[in-house]
Amino acid sequence: MEKWVLFDLDGTLTKSEEGIWNCAKYAAEQMGFPLPTEETLKKWIGPPLIWSFRNLMGMTEEQAWQAQEKYRERYNTRGKYENRVYPGVRNMLRTLREAGVHMGIVTGKPENSTVDILDFFGLKKFMEQIVCATDGHADKEQMIRSVLPADPAAEVWMVGDRKYDMEGGVRAGVHTLGVSWGYGSREELENAGAERIAASPREAAEILCPGAAVPKGAFLSMEGLDGSGKSTQIERLTDSMDRFGFEVMLTREPGGTAVGEKIRDILLDRENAEMTAETEALLYAAARAQHVREKIRPAVAAGKVVLCDRFLDSSVAYQGGGRQLGVDRVLAMNAPAVGGTLPLLTVYLDLDHRASLARREAASRLDRLEMEKEDFHARVEEGYHALIARNPERYVVVDARGDREDIAGTIRKAVLARLFEAE
Ligand code: TMP
Repeated sequence: MEKWVLFDLDGTLTKSEEGIWNCAKYAAEQMGFPLPTEETLKKWIGPPLIWSFRNLMGMTEEQAWQAQEKYRERYNTRGKYENRVYPGVRNMLRTLREAGVHMGIVTGKPENSTVDILDFFGLKKFMEQIVCATDGHADKEQMIRSVLPADPAAEVWMVGDRKYDMEGGVRAGVHTLGVSWGYGSREELENAGAERIAASPREAAEILCPGAAVPKGAFLSMEGLDGSGKSTQIERLTDSMDRFGFEVMLTREPGGTAVGEKIRDILLDRENAEMTAETEALLYAAARAQHVREKIRPAVAAGKVVLCDRFLDSSVAYQGGGRQLGVDRVLAMNAPAVGGTLPLLTVYLDLDHRASLARREAASRLDRLEMEKEDFHARVEEGYHALIARNPERYVVVDARGDREDIAGTIRKAVLARLFEAE
């Protein structure tokens, strides 16, 4: 039997308060009104704008219309993107789509900003119908009725965070699921006739499609010479993916597991000067074998995006190139460790080994590998470049000397595009 799930947008799929509040403040300022308090802003999401300017800010009808103009001016250029997808929402949508459920949006927002937001956050591809307010009119019952499937036996759900969604659904004769992670309380949803209530997107997916499995996530890695700014960029990328609703698991090599962290200590300990290149390569591989099985594979299977600070490429570059074991030997040593688990995409922060040396010298205490001489790092750099030349489509290569924000923006765009494509 055909199944349709219709979602409200603000407060249900996206947490839109940041942009909405910034625009309300901007409109107040432009109109010469005092800035709204936190209390006022909390009541802002849900009711029509004109109503809020009049009743929450005390404007006259005429002032409210002018304020709405100001609000929209900022919202349409900036405010709509000051938004985030709730954690777990992407996986809920992916789960439903895999299970063959048809999905749509029923929102009180105007069409242009709705479509832009869905597009920007990579959510439009999940939606077969998008119903928006026209000329400020947003009667949810009518909007739901306008997309009801022809087959009267079809199962249809309206999912939303406010009473308007539940009341509209009840009047249109469809099932209603209230979500308590948005702006309406459980009590508000229950009073409005919600048939079921979900506290998380995972619970919502289970109610809408019992037993459906979460599709698998993705595995990404970040690589670069020591001093290339990897830690900063990893942090920035994690924040961006989080804003877009990906469930991110950040991890690192060597390490990431209790066993791996112990191996890391041995590897980086400056006392272990007698360690042979083979021992070193096998220890990195051993830590990796544990990491892949204990952490990476289970997280990807649970729908997470795993972002790993260094992976197999580091061994190829450092032990294969730096220690001169050769690419093929290092790959052979690592084959049983990775067992075919490789990143979908690798970000390489490209920095000349001399610049890397200068940055490392500025750091206070160097570990055993960082202490290596310039020619070692020159071979590591060469190793990376050879890897990238072999398999360019797997890499996003970014010049690490640029402005931090620009680098973060370039990485974000490339990684999100690939993740959207893989969904
Ligand atoms: P980190 O400082 O980025 O955490 O990395 C620790 C050091 O280990 C770094 O100098 C690179 C080195 N390394 C290898 O030589 N081979 C590997 O396989 C990995 C993962 C790291």
